[in-house]
Amino acid sequence: MQLAMRMLKGMMAGAALLVCMPAHAASDQPSVPYVPTPQAVVERMLTMAKVTAADYLIDLGSGDGRIVVTAARKYGTRGFGVDLNPVRIDEANENARKNRVTDKVAFYQRNLFDTDLSQATVITMYLLPRVNLQLRPKLLDLKPGTRLVSHDFDMDDWKADEHVRMGANDKFSGAGGDSDIYLWIVPAKVAGSWRSQLTAGGKPQAYEIQLEQKFQSVGGNVRVNGRPTQIQGAKLRGAELSFSFIAEVNGAPVKHEFSGRVDGGRISGEAALSGGRLASRMEWIAERTEAAR
Ligand SMILES: C[S@@+](CC[C@H](N)C(=O)[O-])C[C@H]1O[C@@H](n2cnc3c(N)ncnc32)[C@H](O)[C@@H]1O
Repeated sequence: MQLAMRMLKGMMAGAALLVCMPAHAASDQPSVPYVPTPQAVVERMLTMAKVTAADYLIDLGSGDGRIVVTAARKYGTRGFGVDLNPVRIDEANENARKNRVTDKVAFYQRNLFDTDLSQATVITMYLLPRVNLQLRPKLLDLKPGTRLVSHDFDMDDWKADEHVRMGANDKFSGAGGDSDIYLWIVPAKVAGSWRSQLTAGGKPQAYEIQLEQKFQSVGGNVRVNGRPTQIQGAKLRGAELSFSFIAEVNGAPVKHEFSGRVDGGRISGEAALSGGRLASRMEWIAERTEAAR
């Protein structure tokens, strides 16, 4: 079963080399063949992304429109799909009409690389590994917290926040096979230097925070009143950042747990201090002093 699935996925990737380049595709972009996502996989992709009526979903290479139409029908989600092939656009519009969601969705004959994605809170894709990689810089520049869901293909060293595998009998025109679904949450850009101040143990404490980042993975160090200490357990999910470190306050080691929401050059949230004679929670604000180059 595993082997059959890998062969079929390979066929899809291989087919891309054989399929003629659609009229509007630039020659440096691989052609993605039309292979519809099985309906059960569509439903799982939408559950993983936790789509709601408040979302705006864009499907890149939308085929017969099933992802956009299902989101609108089941959750009231608005959105659009783009596809190079006019036959697919006609099918998608017919699909929207049949499901009475034409007030919520639209389909455009357009190259996905020329599509403005700024409105999206959710992006879905069933493309190819190389196309995912070509899109990656543009996806990383989307609003922090935007959810990206890809059927079958990952994004190389940008590891997914969630990954599931499920069987689908109707995959590949009824041949059946497993489907991989990957979910990423676009991380805020936090790398660089940040400054913050708290009053702890009755005295002002100065924190110079240095953050390093690779996609959603974050680490770094903090200088507390000039003394360096290592950041531990940093987590970044969209714009939500949290980390902890141990630093001396009034001569005793104190655990600092910082958590907050990143908004450009500012993080606002809460600091919890415990240890020594301290056990307190307070507002925590950090200001960016320098972005990483
Ligand atoms: C594998 S199918 C996925 C269809 C649909 N998203 C689904 O999951 O059922 C990929 C679709 O992308 C379209 N496509 C390929 N290259 C494209 C491009 N550069 N811009 C827009 N659509 C493209 C193809 O015509 C095809 O319909």
